[in-house]
Amino acid sequence: MDKVTVEICCGTACYLLGAARLMELEANLPEELKGKVEFEAKACLGMCNDDRLGG
Ligand code: FES
Repeated sequence: MDKVTVEICCGTACYLLGAARLMELEANLPEELKGKVEFEAKACLGMCNDDRLGG
């Protein structure tokens, strides 16, 4: 299995919705996933301005 990268938006809108807490998932991964998933904090990914997503 290739390593999976999860990008987590930490822009203002997502931060206010609690996105930064998703970074805590890395410390709580099941043993079988440790080293196979990495989390990266990103600036605004533009989703908050997407009308299809309620932005
Ligand atoms: S702040 Fe997260 S997508 Fe814009």
